[in-house]
Amino acid sequence: MQNANRLAVVILAAGQGTRMKSKTPKVLHKVAGRSLIAHVLATASQLDPSHIVVVVRHQKELAAAAVNEFLPSAIVCEQDDIPGTGRAVEQAIAALPADFNGDIVVLSGDVPLINEATLRGVIAAHRDGSHQMTILAADVANPQGLGRILYDNAGRVSGIVEEKDATETERQITEINGGIYVFERRALTEALAQIDTDNVQKEKYLTDAAAKIIATGGSVAAHTVDDVWLIAGVNDRAQLAAVGSELNRRLVLKHQLAGVTIVDPRSTYIDVTVEIEADVTLLPGVLLQGATRVATGATVGPATTLKDTSVATGAVIVRSEVHGAKIAAGVTVGPFAYIRPGTTLGERSKVGAFVEVKASQLGAGGKVPHLSYVGDATIGEGANLGAGTIVANYDGVKKHRTTVGREVRVGAKSVLVAPVTVGDGAYSAAGAVIRKEVPPGALAVSVASQRNIPDWVLENRPNTDSARAVTDKKEL
Ligand code: UD1
Ligand code: CA
Repeated sequence: MQNANRLAVVILAAGQGTRMKSKTPKVLHKVAGRSLIAHVLATASQLDPSHIVVVVRHQKELAAAAVNEFLPSAIVCEQDDIPGTGRAVEQAIAALPADFNGDIVVLSGDVPLINEATLRGVIAAHRDGSHQMTILAADVANPQGLGRILYDNAGRVSGIVEEKDATETERQITEINGGIYVFERRALTEALAQIDTDNVQKEKYLTDAAAKIIATGGSVAAHTVDDVWLIAGVNDRAQLAAVGSELNRRLVLKHQLAGVTIVDPRSTYIDVTVEIEADVTLLPGVLLQGATRVATGATVGPATTLKDTSVATGAVIVRSEVHGAKIAAGVTVGPFAYIRPGTTLGERSKVGAFVEVKASQLGAGGKVPHLSYVGDATIGEGANLGAGTIVANYDGVKKHRTTVGREVRVGAKSVLVAPVTVGDGAYSAAGAVIRKEVPPGALAVSVASQRNIPDWVLENRPNTDSARAVTDKKEL
């Protein structure tokens, strides 16, 4: 292992996140289908470090569970009562093996857009310059609330000052501390031991490490990035939305450059976990979520959500909600279909307008074209469920399965009362209520045959528009 014992990543996530005004810990709020902390963990893993330590405190059980679900190998450690980023890092170091003496990258759990290439750039600058501390910095239009980078007369970094502790002149500085750093372990440990809480916020600031390292003859550098989104932090819901929409813009662009037609990027939302092949077309208002995969030649939208769904070549899904389904090649879905988990739609099958399908298998070429509910059913190849067919899967207590054979023709407005089986090639008459097995090739009829009472309207509804319609006709 190239990086064995050379690199550890510490992710700070012990802040309270008060401004989110949420019962959920800040770092568990999501953008692009992933929690803030999971975005940071994913990026940290790409550096291939020997250890990843996450520092938690507020709602620590929830935060720790989320961290270990996403990355079981992460070490979760708890911050004590002493507040501040410096204390958080000190405790993370205590969670590392005593013999670890590589570099330490510090990330924030609430800065989700940082990426591997940028971090590799800071690490390289840190190592090439033989620094003890390298700060990821940026020149920003509005530095409000952030720490500022201070320089001496020779143009070397001399420290970081928090806005709350800054003088009026220091507040004019627009080069800010991005809150992401690389440290040499020994220099960091020694600096942390000297940092106190003598500041406006009464916190142990990690940022004070800069001046401490310089005072003992160490070297501190700032590595600036132009793309300020890389270090954008989430402190409230407005910033959560801003970072989320920027991440989405980047994901959409990535897919466009990989050959996906995305007609309206601003109304298209793609989770970071989604895979899309070239020559897919996404129409306006599409949400692709979770473990969704869309194969070449498929068209999705407008106004469609696909969650944890796979769509094969050439399928067309229009104005529909599809969760947990497998959709084969050449299938058409919608408009206005609702497809629920456990459903598979066979090749060239069709689920049409106002149809709900749940945990059902539709064979190749099968059709449920209009106004139907199909639950817990297996429908054979080439079968057609007429308009308004309902599969009644629920007896009020339990759900039961229904099996419909190949090339069956179920008449319009039939009800299939589960558990029930319709044999291959059978028919049902319109309005049939099928409670018993229908043998292959039979026609099932359950509605009484029609009887007409002549002139009933003239005798029972005289002088109505309907009666006049009858007499006018007779006079013709
Ligand atoms: C910090 C920096 C500031 C920088 C800014 C960039 C310090 C003192 N200041 O300020 O210079 O410009 O980030 O975004 O470091 N955390 C803990 N334990 C704590 C306090 C915070 O783990 O006791 C975590 C938070 O969860 C968060 C990160 O550290 O992930 C940063 O903390 P936050 O309070 O947001 O620091 P800022 O005031 O933004
Ligand atoms: Ca912050």
